[in-house]
Amino acid sequence: MTTVRNSEDFSPALRAAMVGELRELGAITSAPVAEAVSKVPRHLFVPGQPLEAAYAIDQALVIKRDEAGTALSSLSSAHIQSVMLEQADVQPGMQVLEIGSGGYNAALLAELVGEEGAVVSLDIDPEITERARACLDTAGYEQVKVAVGDAEHGLPDEDAFDRIIVTAGAWDIPPAWRTQLTPRGRLIVPLRLKGITRTIAFERDDQTDDGGDAGVLTSVSYLLSGFVAMQGDGEHHEHVIVVGDDESWGLRVDDGAPDFDVQALREALDHPPLERWSGAVFDMPDELELFLVTSGPQMVMLHARQSLVDQGVFDASAGRGVPVLVRGDSFAYRIKRENAELGGFESGVIAHGPHAEQVADEYADLLRRWAHQHRRRGAATIRYIPAGAAHSTPPHHPIPKRHGTVSVTWR
Ligand SMILES: C[S@@+](CC[C@H](N)C(=O)[O-])C[C@H]1O[C@@H](n2cnc3c(N)ncnc32)[C@H](O)[C@@H]1O
Repeated sequence: MTTVRNSEDFSPALRAAMVGELRELGAITSAPVAEAVSKVPRHLFVPGQPLEAAYAIDQALVIKRDEAGTALSSLSSAHIQSVMLEQADVQPGMQVLEIGSGGYNAALLAELVGEEGAVVSLDIDPEITERARACLDTAGYEQVKVAVGDAEHGLPDEDAFDRIIVTAGAWDIPPAWRTQLTPRGRLIVPLRLKGITRTIAFERDDQTDDGGDAGVLTSVSYLLSGFVAMQGDGEHHEHVIVVGDDESWGLRVDDGAPDFDVQALREALDHPPLERWSGAVFDMPDELELFLVTSGPQMVMLHARQSLVDQGVFDASAGRGVPVLVRGDSFAYRIKRENAELGGFESGVIAHGPHAEQVADEYADLLRRWAHQHRRRGAATIRYIPAGAAHSTPPHHPIPKRHGTVSVTWR
């Protein structure tokens, strides 16, 4: 692409092209979101960046990093922002809280709620809110309110919101987000679950069997995503169990994970790999990954250094991060191969350890179960059950959090 110099001349055309691409990819599906994205001058929220970068659909632009170089704040990619706005289904006249400010997304929300609605954008970092305020004013969105504070505690001085849109990676759902949601409200949150992130649109289940408010949140949609991590009182550091020498491979686990026998797993790798093919199709990897990691406490994420992949110690899937089933002294993880009969790829397993056969069989059964019963988009229902909530059915494979429990079931 040639370098574009004059933003006044070219930005409407770039926005139109961006909307076209986002529609083609299915990220934009509604007219109001298309109109909002066509209208808001995205480049005014990243001054100094080339127009091509501002209007690239899949590029997040880092705004602030910590001393170690980790991104603390960024303008999220247009793709994920569009997807989340569609998940939110924002209507004119709504009251919306955005958690994590940049300005641009708040401006899109202001377009969607119109003159009768209101948008508040909350960020923990005053430098970010100051910047967002300036960008919003430059772009003509003075009506958006920007506030500084830790979202863990909500916005105590504000009423309930019809929509709460979280734009930082959350590990848990603090009570304030549920209580500050109107009864028919929707919370959209990138939630970290057992080492993976899904942006989940939740609604409140207000009725229990006895007619009371259960406070349980139930998903209406979920999608793959990645975000900078939440800071403040809701900050959470994931635990990595180092297995290989020099941290060459390990297991990323959630709180409440079982005790794994690290020495036995290290020795398991000395056993030759056992390869098993499931006969089941491999596609929609994000859906399969969610199915696998939420299938039980013994399934966690395995990460191996690229050097071990290059040496043939692990398959390439482990280099990217893959669900691993750990049973005592043995473990198994997913692989794939081309299979013309299946019209694409077939899923399979590599297992190591004295009980490789059993653990490979168990894993292959899961691969077949997903392919035959649940292989479609949106087959999962994710529930957030707050601590102390009355809930008629016990959670299936509960994933413990600080303020409640997550449970995932499959249709
Ligand atoms: C990806 S950026 C937000 C992007 C923005 N919504 C946009 O329009 O592109 C995430 C933001 O979340 C903020 N953040 C992190 N933890 C927070 C917390 N506990 N409360 C409020 N904001 C938080 C960060 O300071 C960061 O600016």
